[in-house]
Amino acid sequence: MNISIVFYSMSENTAFVANKVKEELLANNNSNGDINVDVIRIEPVKAFPSEGAKKFIWGGKSAVMGDKPELKPYTFETSKYDRIIIGTPVWAGTMAPPVRTFIEENKDALSGKQIGIYVCSAGDKGMKAVEKIRKVLGVDKLRFAMALIDPKDKPTEANAKEIEGFCKNMV
Ligand SMILES: Cc1cc2nc3c(=O)[nH]c(=O)nc-3n(C[C@H](O)[C@H](O)[C@H](O)COP(=O)(O)O)c2cc1C
Repeated sequence: MNISIVFYSMSENTAFVANKVKEELLANNNSNGDINVDVIRIEPVKAFPSEGAKKFIWGGKSAVMGDKPELKPYTFETSKYDRIIIGTPVWAGTMAPPVRTFIEENKDALSGKQIGIYVCSAGDKGMKAVEKIRKVLGVDKLRFAMALIDPKDKPTEANAKEIEGFCKNMV
């Protein structure tokens, strides 16, 4: 089974989860046959400010406006994957703009695929963002979804369990 994890991360929480999910999926390898996991990090050509007040003002405004910033070249062959996991930080209650670009650029190819979404946020409204992403994707049902609170900065047993459950449901 081929699985891809596509994510954007500014301060590494979403990246941390991508790596954890990959580790967990590969650890389950024996019971599920051959699993290949590709981790694809997307990045905008023009980076968002990542320090000070600018970080929240620019990123937040861009997310609210539904911007789709140009991405650095990435390789993503949709037809290769049985499962596609999309990860994003929550910005202003929704996905970070680079993820919006990715979905837009691959929307047709993503339709009919088994998709899982995870979001990282500072507060507890992450599942609301998941719902918005599902609508933008135009899928009726996600294979699985999870929302985690700053999982790299604040590791908890509950987060670890959530990641475990997410991986079990993805395969
Ligand atoms: C521009 C910006 C907007 C944000 N908006 C929200 C928000 O609306 N709700 C929330 O809970 N967290 C918000 N956050 C916090 C991040 O979602 C959270 O810290 C996340 O874990 C960061 O993921 P990352 O380390 O992968 O970038 C925001 C962060 C930034 C930079």
